[in-house]
Amino acid sequence: MSVQSVLEQRRSVRHFDSSYTIHPETLTSLIESASKSPNGNNIQATRYLIIDDPDLRSALLPIAYHQQQVIDASALIVMLGDYQAFEEDNIIKIHEEGFQAGFFDESLRDYLANAAIQYYANKSDEELKLELARDVSLASMSFILLANEAGLQTITMSGYDSAQLKASLNISERYLDVMVIAVGKGTKNGHQTVRHPVQNIIYRNTITSL
Ligand SMILES: Cc1cc2nc3c(=O)[nH]c(=O)nc-3n(C[C@H](O)[C@H](O)[C@H](O)COP(=O)(O)O)c2cc1C
Repeated sequence: MSVQSVLEQRRSVRHFDSSYTIHPETLTSLIESASKSPNGNNIQATRYLIIDDPDLRSALLPIAYHQQQVIDASALIVMLGDYQAFEEDNIIKIHEEGFQAGFFDESLRDYLANAAIQYYANKSDEELKLELARDVSLASMSFILLANEAGLQTITMSGYDSAQLKASLNISERYLDVMVIAVGKGTKNGHQTVRHPVQNIIYRNTITSL
């Protein structure tokens, strides 16, 4: 299926077959492909916390305001950004791996690593949070497209109490929870949704009032 077809057909699905399980290898494969998404300086800050334990999901139900997909979907993926990815050690290690793999020479390794270190050096907490939100969101969309291509359905969720979710899953302040994706076999199509006419969302060269 083309990317365009997947995008045209995808809906947020809120009703799932609670007896359907996704093989761990399938999820791993989807995540491996999603990890190829573009990400700032290739620091690879996105982490995927898979929640398939029924007790954990029951505990999350009230935290996610009783959204039924929390227990009926095959798995929840808590999409996390890892603040440790900004550390010099990680940046140097990733560029060394690229060098060892033969993807670039020593001088490009050092140039890219130093540029990345400088890029993050003076960023505020808010700016770093935005960096994580960007990277994790791109990986999330890739995961959603890949899951749909594989015949699965998804819903993206921010409708949960972040502090309670982090506490109940022992997620430390090292991580930013960007969103939760429920994935599984839908039993009811998501309702159709409208979009603005495309000419109403495009500016060209300057911002004009639409
Ligand atoms: C970041 C994000 C968070 C969302 N959180 C929820 C949620 O908690 N519960 C829910 O029912 N839908 C949630 N949605 C789904 C949106 O309501 C849905 O994407 C939107 O209405 C467009 O519908 P569509 O995805 O079917 O095209 C969320 C979507 C996004 C992108």
